[in-house]
Amino acid sequence: MRFASAPRERLSGMNTKTESRSRVKTSLELYQQAGNLIPGWTQLISRRADQFAFGVSPIYAQSAKGARFRDVDGNDYLDWVNAVGAVILGHADDAVDNAVIEQIRKGSIHTVNSPLELELAEELNATIPSSQMVRYTKAGGEACAVAARIARGTRDRDLILFCGYHGWTDWYQAANFGADPESGEYPFAGIEPIGIPKVLAGTAIPFRYGDLAALEQALEQHQDKVAAIMMEPMRSELPPPGYLEGVRELATKHGVILIFDEVSCGFRMAIGGVQAYLGVTPDMTILSKSMSNGYPMGAVVGSRDVMEPAKHMFISSQYWSDTIGIVASLVTIRELKRRDAQSRFKSIGEKLRRTLDQAIAEAGVAGACTGVYANPVLSLEIPEGVDGRKVSTLFIQEMAKQGIHCQLSFKATLAHRDEDIEQTGIAACKALTVIKQGLEYEALDDLLEADLKKEPFRRQVR
Ligand SMILES: Cc1ncc(COP(=O)(O)O)c(C=O)c1O
Repeated sequence: MRFASAPRERLSGMNTKTESRSRVKTSLELYQQAGNLIPGWTQLISRRADQFAFGVSPIYAQSAKGARFRDVDGNDYLDWVNAVGAVILGHADDAVDNAVIEQIRKGSIHTVNSPLELELAEELNATIPSSQMVRYTKAGGEACAVAARIARGTRDRDLILFCGYHGWTDWYQAANFGADPESGEYPFAGIEPIGIPKVLAGTAIPFRYGDLAALEQALEQHQDKVAAIMMEPMRSELPPPGYLEGVRELATKHGVILIFDEVSCGFRMAIGGVQAYLGVTPDMTILSKSMSNGYPMGAVVGSRDVMEPAKHMFISSQYWSDTIGIVASLVTIRELKRRDAQSRFKSIGEKLRRTLDQAIAEAGVAGACTGVYANPVLSLEIPEGVDGRKVSTLFIQEMAKQGIHCQLSFKATLAHRDEDIEQTGIAACKALTVIKQGLEYEALDDLLEADLKKEPFRRQVR
């Protein structure tokens, strides 16, 4: 397939700036109101308007179905963000929603416990290699905090070595006391540990992904003090060969609990998670996004040895018994299996990668589509002296104007069809042609109708 790449005549966005802003007028008005009502505008940093093309991208939605959503201004978008990966079957999936509605009619939470808790535990045990016992939460960061508590309690040690992103709670954010927030190094450039007790400094220690020797050194330096290694096993790139196996060996050798945080990477590479895909089994696993197709849910699963001591720990919260997320998870996991999710994600992801590569070639920009099939990433080569944020904002802006909501990293759902990939390829070719012109004529600033996108916080794991 060749894309109908129409080179852009104009090299100035001046005339269209007002036009773009009027397309998302209601979104922009609501966002301004949010500034007065909600500190930080949104509940999740990744949902802030400055993470997209502010002024052009939609900020508020009114409805969503399958691979698409409608914003509050009535514009329709093909969605490659999918609630930052939380939606995996597709928006408002009928199978999940019907089960949830049925459960709501029976009562979403009861005075006594629901047997559904056991049914999901058995489903997780049959699905996730590391799962023998299970605790539930309503979100990922909470589940990370539960895992940290269980690991510390089980080992009676305080330190946690970590790599990757693990949520908003104190145990983890305390790591930023050890880093210069502006250094551009780990963990979160630009985010200071304001409001985190300073006494926690030194209790969560980052290590560099892919560097086994550095991890070994940290374990030796803190001999007998480390309760757990918590890490995202991968994100968009496969780990270096033998790396996770090496981490597994080191954890066992030092009596340290190995925790895989599969909140973002789980379910798409394989239904059993990255651990099933790569054949490395941790002691504990954290699940959340994707497990319930967008309904609030999280889980900590692990071996009996590691999990059982949790019965002596204070780990308790009222809505962890709520049945909605549990039902949604049961149906989501069963539907992933029934719909043959792994091979579907492979074919969707591989087709998207080929299509984006073709768009790059036809537009004549330097770059490639990288990333595994579960998470294709548009990697453009930015010429020296050019601010990469201008290029990424321009891409998101030009895609939004063509009805596609995306970042440079794409997350598919099972609702994405071949036609959606073709539409994305045609739009990407046009967007990249605009970028090429902007680079050639040094006119990126003129072409930008949106405010410059902010970089997301660093996650250490690519
Ligand atoms: C790997 C990982 N862990 C934890 C979290 C935190 O989850 P939540 O935002 O549900 O608290 C996220 C969220 O993006 C994540 O990607």
